[in-house]
Amino acid sequence: MADKGTGSGSDKGNPNGDSNENPVSDYRNTLENLVQQFQNSNPMGQQHKFWETQPVGQFKDVGNASVPEGSIEEPTPISEVKQEPYNLPSSYEWTVCDMNLDEVCAEVYTLLTNNYVEDDDHMFRFNYSKEFLRWALCSPGFFSNWHIGVRVKGSGKLVAFISGIPVKMRVRDQVFKMAEVNFLCVHKKLRSKRLAPVMIKEVTRRIHLENIWHAAYTAGVLLPTPMSTCQYWHRTLNPKKLIDVGFSRLGDRMTMSRAIKLYKLPTSTASSGLRKMERRDVPAIALLLRNYLSRYDVAPDFDEEEVEHWLLPRDNVVDCYLVESPETHEVTDFFSFYTLPSSILHNPNYSTLRAAYTFYYVSTKTPLLQLINDALIIAKLNDYDVFNALDVMENEAFLKELKFGPGDGQLFYYLYNYRFRQALKPSELGLVLL
Ligand SMILES: CC(C)(COP(=O)(O)OP(=O)(O)OC[C@H]1O[C@@H](n2cnc3c(N)ncnc32)[C@H](O)[C@@H]1OP(=O)(O)O)[C@@H](O)C(=O)NCCC(=O)NCCS
Repeated sequence: MADKGTGSGSDKGNPNGDSNENPVSDYRNTLENLVQQFQNSNPMGQQHKFWETQPVGQFKDVGNASVPEGSIEEPTPISEVKQEPYNLPSSYEWTVCDMNLDEVCAEVYTLLTNNYVEDDDHMFRFNYSKEFLRWALCSPGFFSNWHIGVRVKGSGKLVAFISGIPVKMRVRDQVFKMAEVNFLCVHKKLRSKRLAPVMIKEVTRRIHLENIWHAAYTAGVLLPTPMSTCQYWHRTLNPKKLIDVGFSRLGDRMTMSRAIKLYKLPTSTASSGLRKMERRDVPAIALLLRNYLSRYDVAPDFDEEEVEHWLLPRDNVVDCYLVESPETHEVTDFFSFYTLPSSILHNPNYSTLRAAYTFYYVSTKTPLLQLINDALIIAKLNDYDVFNALDVMENEAFLKELKFGPGDGQLFYYLYNYRFRQALKPSELGLVLL
């Protein structure tokens, strides 16, 4: 479905959920191949007029093992950072979107609901809720002036948005203060006018003013140059609806009743001691997660305040369940997922697809398959239609077994001002961006 490559996309490529025939590697082109295909289709002149001017890995260096790995540009003194905002076309002006004001939050919500990421066939569009946007943007230490809008002068209409939040990110052995940049959106009527590069430069300028020189972001489009190329997988929970709305289709040898049987889940979870996370669990969850994420090449460096913010359950935004040993009361495992519905465009019967997205998890005692199957059961009991997961972290270990099917489209992960010698495998990433 709406595919930020991002899994707003459909699993049309997986008509019957029998993904066993489709090894993960078949679905992922190597970065070299993707770049080659791109360059073949653009043989002339500059191919990324904007991105070729930015401190990011460039396509010409892909496969060249002699380019050094690491930061591309050194920090400059803050006094040398441009102090005034970039110029916008004369009928537009910058605005700071204070997400704590209901009316401003509603304006951002409306812009995104009508103009944000769609799948290639324009059947689905991400529909981040207002509570979700507030959660995603007002994280510990956030800067309100990194929540940047563009308004039409006179009418005041909000027509574009981009945001950053501060994070600590470990890349191999080094922890960087970074920004996570997300929710770049230009109103449909203003597309292809080179507004996006101005917005990206403006958020970058404001990030530099906080003495932060790196950023992480994802996109469904290929830009110079991904650190990794990931794919969404979808686990059908409500086959009838997914087929009715065109998210999935029945394969040749599949009937609706067989599909319903195939995706049926137990009505109760299997892990004893499974319960919703509470505030008192923050230290234990933080310890588990920090330890777990240390095995990945790129992963956030969460402190307890961030674990509380990102994982403590919030209705219709994020959920987190843990396993507490009935004997020792030790917290040994947890899983979390976030709620990101998509609008179903042009369907007479349905307007919303209820999707859960795998977030962070740790399994130390409970087998991972059982833990994630419990997540599916809880999602089903809570009326989600589909459960999505990327192939990052250890996800490949459960995707096929738990009847996830590969989606169409890819999600590219990027770092700004950091170059890798070689692209990372999704399984080397311990990072999930919203
Ligand atoms: C993404 C979006 C803001 C781009 O705006 P646009 O009007 O299509 O493009 P513009 O003419 O303003 O700018 C084009 C430049 O932006 C770059 N660009 C396009 N999408 C981008 C993205 N998602 N992230 C970063 N840069 C992007 C293009 O590569 C191009 O730069 P280049 O010449 O170096 O290649 C707009 O298409 C949009 O709102 N789409 C729906 C929401 C969406 O997909 N958001 C991004 C989610 S990751």
